[in-house]
Amino acid sequence: MRVYLNGRYMDAEQATVPVTDRGFLFGDGVYDVVRSAGSELIEVDRHLRRITRGLHELRIALGADRIAELRDISQTLLRDNHVEGDAIVYWQVTRGAAPRTHQFPPSGTAPTVYVIASPIALPHALRRRGSSVITVPDVRWSRCDIKSVNLLPNVLAKQQAVDAEADEAIFVRNGVIMEAASSSVFAVLDGELRTHPLTTAILPGITREIVLELASELRLPLREFPILAQDVPRATEMFFTSTVNDIMPIVRVDGRSIGTGRPGPITQQMYTAFAERIGAVVGTH
Ligand SMILES: Cc1ncc(COP(=O)(O)O)c(C=O)c1O
Repeated sequence: MRVYLNGRYMDAEQATVPVTDRGFLFGDGVYDVVRSAGSELIEVDRHLRRITRGLHELRIALGADRIAELRDISQTLLRDNHVEGDAIVYWQVTRGAAPRTHQFPPSGTAPTVYVIASPIALPHALRRRGSSVITVPDVRWSRCDIKSVNLLPNVLAKQQAVDAEADEAIFVRNGVIMEAASSSVFAVLDGELRTHPLTTAILPGITREIVLELASELRLPLREFPILAQDVPRATEMFFTSTVNDIMPIVRVDGRSIGTGRPGPITQQMYTAFAERIGAVVGTH
């Protein structure tokens, strides 16, 4: 497997960063994950915009040309590794390697840029069955709109889900469903599709954005409005969305069934529209 690190393509085993890298020491960096199918990157411009914004918010100085290069690097890796089916490309940029101080290193410290492309198996069997999730308190910071590599609360939440034999963990803050450990959350309540509005407390999920566009094209009743945890028992359908899972029905929350306990019609309608949209981009399906 060939990967990209700081201007060079190399075998994955040779890709190492110094122990002084601020990603290692502080989680001081951002990442993004892009889907590809048939060697085509899906919605790559949206991912480039999101990482650009994250770098800007964290004041990591990676030039616009270096950011734009991520697209070509990704395509080169997909080609050189012969990754032709469903795959994800992972981008990570940290503030670079420098003697450990909390404040920023001297200007001119080169950011670390790492890219890897890996094949993925899409979770179709789970999608047919529907997933189980648990709710956990949202103990994260107040800038969850930045896709930072500092993911400790997400790691702990996901492990709690695995320990409970669930598939995902949903963060609840002040009685409100925010999003999940690595996905956005939707519910159908009173016949209306709902998801948390974009604030600095959730990630602007790209799958979320596409689902909202599709739902509006399909003229489904739709509202970016908080879902209260206490309303979950009334939800007729729920699903979570992410680049690696597309749209995943949720059929159980904390052990209680949602709706009929099977993936619901709006979720299925959204998934069909979503698959078609991706198909239109890659010219397959
Ligand atoms: C916390 C969080 N929310 C939402 C998402 C979904 O975002 P996207 O649809 O862009 O993959 C992710 C993806 O990793 C995430 O980590």
